[in-house]
Amino acid sequence: MTTIAVLGAGKIGEALLSGLLSGGRLPEQLMFTERYAERAAALTKQYGVRVVDVPTAVRDAEVLVVAVKPQDIDPVLDELAPVISPRNLVVSLCAGLPTSLYERKLPNDVPVVRVMPNTPMLVGQAMSVISAGRHASPQHLVLVEEILGTVGEVIRVPESQQDAVTALSGSGPAYFFFLVEAMIDAGILLGIPRNVAEKLIIQSAVGAAAMLAQTGEHPVTLREAVTSPAGTTIMAIRELERHGVRAALLAAIEAARDRSEELGKAHES
Ligand SMILES: NC(=O)c1ccc[n+]([C@@H]2O[C@H](COP(=O)([O-])OP(=O)(O)OC[C@H]3O[C@@H](n4cnc5c(N)ncnc54)[C@H](OP(=O)(O)O)[C@@H]3O)[C@@H](O)[C@H]2O)c1
Repeated sequence: MTTIAVLGAGKIGEALLSGLLSGGRLPEQLMFTERYAERAAALTKQYGVRVVDVPTAVRDAEVLVVAVKPQDIDPVLDELAPVISPRNLVVSLCAGLPTSLYERKLPNDVPVVRVMPNTPMLVGQAMSVISAGRHASPQHLVLVEEILGTVGEVIRVPESQQDAVTALSGSGPAYFFFLVEAMIDAGILLGIPRNVAEKLIIQSAVGAAAMLAQTGEHPVTLREAVTSPAGTTIMAIRELERHGVRAALLAAIEAARDRSEELGKAHES
């Protein structure tokens, strides 16, 4: 099996290590780099995975998963550049960083795959969206699908769609959290105790998500099934439409896409 090094074992990096181990990879096939010795020791203790320096990661691992914050990328590229070779595959989880940045800073036509994950990776339910860089082959994409498939779903898009993807699934969980928060407030307004309102709304969200994922039905069909003539749901839907919730979502996601494009421009030169 392929050996994988996670460069930067923060929240997302740790979630990936944990998912890979649960998916059947052995600790010996995994390694990570980390700035703080204390955190590194804690991770090694918990997962049995060794901490290494960048040259060792490049030497011992075929796949290098970059999971540092985007603003911390420069030192990582500086460390990789003198030692990396085309037998390594770079998998970038860094929001907004284009594959061209890696291709420009790293020598030898190193293959790069860009990924937009999202935080449900922490519970094994990520939506990871992948795009090949110039030197990445179909086999590289298959390998990345297999790796990220241990922590959720994976889909391919052309890199030109990554800003839109960032706005949809990258930020997507935040929109659902926002909606849940507002619905819990509505429960408080109606006099329901907070703990009860939380339980009602979170389980409704979990149930609705499971129906969407498992039935294969269109969301419109599922909504119509609970919208009876002159019933309660249609009264609520009328208010949602009157307050422009659909238009607000379209505008919000477009704004997130625009911001992602703007942030990406910082890495163009
Ligand atoms: N969380 C999300 O919602 C989300 C969603 C999509 C994509 N992503 C992407 O996933 C990446 C990781 O995010 P995160 O939330 O996991 O961030 P995080 O918790 O801050 O993890 C980054 C880790 O990398 C370490 N690090 C930084 N520079 C390093 C270096 N030169 N060598 C070794 N380790 C280094 C950091 O150490 P220190 O603690 O010392 O800084 C930290 O442990 C980001 O690029 C982000 O864009 C995150």
